[in-house]
Amino acid sequence: MDTLLLVFTLLLSSVLCYLFFFSKKRSGALRLPPGPKGWPILGNLLQLGPKPHHTLHALSKAHGPLFRLRFGFVDVVVASSAAVATEFLKVHDANFSNRPPNSGAEHTTYNYQLRPLASITSQHSTVRTSTSDELVLPPEMTYTTFHHHHTTTLWLLIPGSYPKPWRKHPLAETPPPTPSPAIPAVSARRRCCLVTRLILQDLFTAGTDTSTSTIEWAVAELIRHPKILKQAQVELDSIIGPARLVSESDLPNLPTLQAIIKESLRLHPSAPLSLPRMAAEGCEINGYCIPKQATLLVNIWAIGRDPAIWPDPLEFSPARFLPGGANESVDVKGSDFELIPFGAGRRICAGLSLGLRMVQLMTATLVHAFDWTLPDGQPSEKLDMEEAYGLTLQRAVPLVVRPVPRLLQKAYESIEK
Ligand code: HEM
Repeated sequence: MDTLLLVFTLLLSSVLCYLFFFSKKRSGALRLPPGPKGWPILGNLLQLGPKPHHTLHALSKAHGPLFRLRFGFVDVVVASSAAVATEFLKVHDANFSNRPPNSGAEHTTYNYQLRPLASITSQHSTVRTSTSDELVLPPEMTYTTFHHHHTTTLWLLIPGSYPKPWRKHPLAETPPPTPSPAIPAVSARRRCCLVTRLILQDLFTAGTDTSTSTIEWAVAELIRHPKILKQAQVELDSIIGPARLVSESDLPNLPTLQAIIKESLRLHPSAPLSLPRMAAEGCEINGYCIPKQATLLVNIWAIGRDPAIWPDPLEFSPARFLPGGANESVDVKGSDFELIPFGAGRRICAGLSLGLRMVQLMTATLVHAFDWTLPDGQPSEKLDMEEAYGLTLQRAVPLVVRPVPRLLQKAYESIEK
């Protein structure tokens, strides 16, 4: 009887031990990030609202800086703090270097030929590296960048250099005879038209709205803050004077202007949710299981307003980036995760250097060459700063301003030459 009891006890404890460890393992494997309940089939899609970055920011307050949604059948994880963004875009960067598939990119860009939306391949990274090198450019920047971008896009289009090229396009039937990473290989007239179109699509999609909206927000903030505008003009006058316009070589000598652009990108990042990434494999982040093929959204907009990092986060205060300021050492180039308007990691904006310089140069020129007033004597503090939502962060009400020239006549004459 004693033996029977012993055997029974041993059996029971083995079963309990097995159940305990098994259930622990299972619950560990299933520990997904927390998140709001969604609708059957649609998941959380209907909850996003007209300004998803605002909605996701509000959700992060309820569910934490790493939370999960479902868009239909797709798992979506949202990173809303610098620490969580570092985990995804630095520690696990390789795992999140692909973009999720989407039918828009497939059908409107000849099967993912538009780089910002394409998945990464070894060719992609080679091409990207060479492009990035060439994007860090001295004076003749714009032309050179366009030229290299042109070359790069041609490489992407040459059969064999990219996955399933031309598959969705009638030109697929007439590939060039010698696949080679060189421009002469692309000779057909029609192909050139398509190439030109893709170059423009690539450049315009990624580089146009992003840059113009940043400039528009920066000028709007300066109009709302006349003291900071004056400070920038004093700096510009002392370095450039009244007889010529700003040139690119002046930019390193304009710390206030640089701080103004950083502050504008912090409050008004032109891609508030960055561009989506996708988990190549399942992985564990912050103790949560991130499922394979989950889409990652990084709420750059929310990170830029995190009160734990930014004192008075809603204030437009470029001084925070100036010597002695609270965020003096923070830069926008992808290594300081509290300020990542250009993203970070392998898929960081390929036009970072060009985009930043363009925005700085354009804003500096506008601020230096003109005084700005609002039409009909509107008070500047009443300027509407409401956001509209699109792929980029645009103003709900476009900026309408009256420029008043403030330099010597000969400075403006140089534009006409
Ligand atoms: C103020 C200006 C700009 C901002 C704020 C900006 C922001 C961004 C962001 C947030 C991403 C996604 C990065 C990531 O996934 O981590 C991106 C990607 C990209 N940007 Fe920009 N961008 C700007 C200007 C430009 C310009 C001027 C160009 C080219 C002429 C450009 C080309 C690209 C490309 C090609 C990608 C995709 C990179 C890839 O997927 O590998 N961008 N940009």
